[in-house]
Amino acid sequence: MSASTSTQLAVHVRAVTKTFGTGEAAVPALKGVDFDARQGELLMIVGPSGCGKTTLLSVIAGTLNFDGGEIDVFGSPLHAMKPRHITEFRKRHVGFIFQQFNLIPTLSCIENVSVPLLINGVSRRVAEQKAAAMLDQMGLPGRGHERPTNLSGGQQQRVAIARALVHEPRLVICDEPTSALDKDTGGHIMDLLCAVARHPERSVIVVTHDNRIFKYADRLTEMEDGRVQRVHGQGGNHDLIE
Ligand SMILES: Nc1ncnc2c1ncn2[C@@H]1O[C@H](COP(=O)(O)OP(=O)(O)OP(=O)(O)O)[C@@H](O)[C@H]1O
Ligand SMILES: [Mg+2]
Repeated sequence: MSASTSTQLAVHVRAVTKTFGTGEAAVPALKGVDFDARQGELLMIVGPSGCGKTTLLSVIAGTLNFDGGEIDVFGSPLHAMKPRHITEFRKRHVGFIFQQFNLIPTLSCIENVSVPLLINGVSRRVAEQKAAAMLDQMGLPGRGHERPTNLSGGQQQRVAIARALVHEPRLVICDEPTSALDKDTGGHIMDLLCAVARHPERSVIVVTHDNRIFKYADRLTEMEDGRVQRVHGQGGNHDLIE
């Protein structure tokens, strides 16, 4: 990647492959994906169940190894980095909203949201103050000391979103962030993610099936059977996002 491209791109994925299992049980999930996310944009990824969306997000976030190809995230080449450097990079620069939320059931909501700050060396007192403020912003005031299991699915999803944003990561990766939310709450969360994406040195990638939120996308990428099929928006078609 040239220096001029790397200043504009948040994520640059080339010919990435990933197969789960081996032999007869092998499942090729990514079959040579080419994909870019720009700095300052909210990019959506859509596609049928099983086409590889979560797998793609996981390799970009550095939580899953890939077999071939190259991934640069803000100029850091994941394909060439040692695992511990990828972990360091992820801790500081990536916020991930998981499809299944992945909240820690034995911790309170405030403690869950504090985790990204604590692992970046922030004191517990400051981390918990910031976590509580983030939960307020998500429309969950006064629920911070409860365990996530006491909350509804939509409320748990908002705790997961608070945890992904609290350390102000450069790259926010969201796997179905509005799946458990009603229209108004989903709209509020998307407004918030758009505000994060407007920052020139950040980028937000959202996987979704929810066509109510397509209008929030700067660009929309369609995946099918382990590959990117087309990109809508600037430099592509607009039909899906207008
Ligand atoms: N840990 C795993 N072990 C084996 N196969 C897997 C694993 N994770 C995903 N797969 C397979 O890889 C393919 C892509 O899965 P992935 O979860 O990326 O799809 P998806 O597009 O996110 O689907 P959905 O919309 O249902 O969330 C599927 O065939 C899936 O069964
Ligand atoms: Mg998925």
